Amino acid sequence: MFQDDLLKDKKVLITGGGTGLGKSMGRRYLELGAELVICGRREEVLAETAAEFDAAYPGRTGRYACDVRDPAAIEAMMDEIWRERPLDILVNNAAGNFIAKSETLSPRAVDAVLGIVLHGTAYATLSCGRRWIEDGRHGNVLSIVTTYAWTGSPYVVPSAMAKAGVLAMTRSLAAEWGGKGIRLNAIAPGPFPTKGAWERLVPGGGFEKAWLNRIPLGRVGEHQELADLAAFLAADQSGYINGEVVTIDGGEWVKGAAQFALLEHLSDEDWAAMRPKKKGG
Ligand code: HXC
Ligand code: NAP
Repeated sequence: MFQDDLLKDKKVLITGGGTGLGKSMGRRYLELGAELVICGRREEVLAETAAEFDAAYPGRTGRYACDVRDPAAIEAMMDEIWRERPLDILVNNAAGNFIAKSETLSPRAVDAVLGIVLHGTAYATLSCGRRWIEDGRHGNVLSIVTTYAWTGSPYVVPSAMAKAGVLAMTRSLAAEWGGKGIRLNAIAPGPFPTKGAWERLVPGGGFEKAWLNRIPLGRVGEHQELADLAAFLAADQSGYINGEVVTIDGGEWVKGAAQFALLEHLSDEDWAAMRPKKKGG
């Protein structure tokens, strides 16, 4: 889909890059020539992913065990990254989420999700932005949100609040920092199977089948599809896109919002019965 050296000379940090979609985006960035840094809380997970990447793309993956909820830890990580070579691209991908009836949520449960998604994303973005502005360098921030950032969703309320905030940050800073050569965009994925999301968000009892029925294309997303979109938005060739959110969900959210979508259950006979009779017929 792209020229092999699309991201050559670009240095990218992916938060939560040791697993799931972050790992898939990281692999694609490496394929396209980038230098990669991944971070997350679990050192052993990062080490395993970095070793896998190193085997295929030697010497181009760095890793930091870092909890994005801790601003001091983020600063220490950025200091170390910058000492070697400044970043060109930040991908805010780390997230925490689970399904729960909202009336059962404790304050700690709310804080756990907001802390990772909203605060962690803000800390990482501000830390990079400050450095880019001080250095007079261009920068690019890509944040992974969800479609319920603007539709809202029951049972994942802290996540919906946090992702809405990340989208507001994306648009706000796109306007504030665009003139300094820093652009910010977001991707809103529909369902893309990952261990982290499926363990926490997909209950049994036919939920998955019902989910597929909500999606006009009738399938979940493939990691490669999201990774290619993330590569496009990371590349200079998409340089005029700023403050945008790109949805990649097979049409799920528009169908969910579309009033007459429920007519898909009507039979051909139902439709025929509703047609006006021909005059004189
Ligand atoms: C109710 C819950 C809960 C649950 C945790 N808590 N899980 N409450 N229902 N299912 C509560 C705990 O009881 C505790 O509150 C508080 O949350 C903090 O829990 P900890 O386990 O101590 O937190 P921590 O170790 O920091 O873990 C954070 C986490 C966890 C968010 C709870 O799930 C996590 O580490 N997630 C990271 C990965 C992840 O979530 N990936 C999925 C992203 S997918 P009390 O008061 O009892 O102490 C995604 C997709 C969205 O975002 C869209 C899909 C289409
Ligand atoms: P995942 O594999 O669970 O990824 C989450 C990553 O975030 C993990 O690597 C995790 O590593 C890291 N992380 C969590 N808390 C952290 C913290 N405090 N500090 C640093 N890193 C932290 O799930 P995923 O499905 O790939 O999700 C990736 C992104 O896509 C998320 O932003 C999610 O909201 C978004 N998304 C996913 C889907 C989907 O269908 N999969 C749909 C819409 C949006 P540690 O646990 O080691 O810290």
